[in-house]
Amino acid sequence: MSTDSSNPQQQQSTQFPQSRMRRLRYNPAVRQLCQHTRLHAGSLILPLFVRSGTAIRNEISSMPGQFQLSLDQLADEARAVQDLGIGGIILFGIPASKDSQGTAALHDNGIVQQAITAIKDVTPDLLVMTDICMCEYTDHGHCGILHDKMGVMDVDNDATLSLLGKQAVSHAQQGADIIAPSGMMDGMVQAIRSALDQASFQHIPIMSYSAKYNSAYYGPFRDAAESAPQFGDRRSYQMDPRALADQAIREVQLDLQEGADMVMVKPALAYLDIITRVRQAFPGVPLAAYNVSGEYSMVKAAAANGWIDETAVVDETLLAMHRAGADILLTYWARDVAQRLQ
Ligand code: PBG
Ligand code: ZN
Repeated sequence: MSTDSSNPQQQQSTQFPQSRMRRLRYNPAVRQLCQHTRLHAGSLILPLFVRSGTAIRNEISSMPGQFQLSLDQLADEARAVQDLGIGGIILFGIPASKDSQGTAALHDNGIVQQAITAIKDVTPDLLVMTDICMCEYTDHGHCGILHDKMGVMDVDNDATLSLLGKQAVSHAQQGADIIAPSGMMDGMVQAIRSALDQASFQHIPIMSYSAKYNSAYYGPFRDAAESAPQFGDRRSYQMDPRALADQAIREVQLDLQEGADMVMVKPALAYLDIITRVRQAFPGVPLAAYNVSGEYSMVKAAAANGWIDETAVVDETLLAMHRAGADILLTYWARDVAQRLQ
């Protein structure tokens, strides 16, 4: 029998009333049988913000329910995350001091380095990813060190690469399981891969923020990580939302050639088309989507006003990201979702 749907005879034979799509959803058991996309705690990564001090649990005003945590609080959080079966965490650090070179990113007793140790002390099996970027550590808030490019201050791509390599090695030394560079520097994956390999961390995977767009959806994160650029913006390194969608494919391809093991599209909700294209172009590559801070804050604000049902909207949104093609979701809702799935 022909399976060609352009065959009019077949089309005719499968029309109403012989065909009734509602048979596939007529009761809960049939609906359950026909579900394809599912949420799993083990596919979720929870972003966490760590800062120095003790007993600090600063709620981020633009991200209700998310906190800047001191190391002791972070350890408690790690236990809870592990008990919920969440796939892992990704760490962002707020250092005690910043400078133009972001040197606090490289200290073996830096805030993220201490956080990795603190977490591995209490939950050695919990997957710990670390964000590799300079913007949390530079006083100017850019993702690399600056140089003067014909009268304009810009991020010096190549000079930043060696710093990213050093930051990655220092995180791996403390026990980071996956290294996640987010700065959109050209060559960053290659530089980090060779730095890790030279330091005998050949086994540590890189999840690259390969297709990261210049996005207004990062606003609340910059409050949380205290990493807003002090002048200008990130348009010269993050992707332009107006660019050809295939530019994202080139970004991913280059990162894979440089040695990325997993790739990411970010943000998620306004870039579901990009998630699908990357999934189709690279079927064998683990693909993550970052459900970013602004996506979280919008839903929280609407829910606080009683305008939408938060849990229903969250499930629907995260399902869409999986259905678009993402295997792994970085989301501030990881705890809530995992709790619900239990
Ligand atoms: C750092 C970084 C950012 C995010 C993750 N890593 C912010 C930025 O690029 O300004 C955003 C995450 C979010 O909005 O939740 N480069
Ligand atoms: Zn950055």
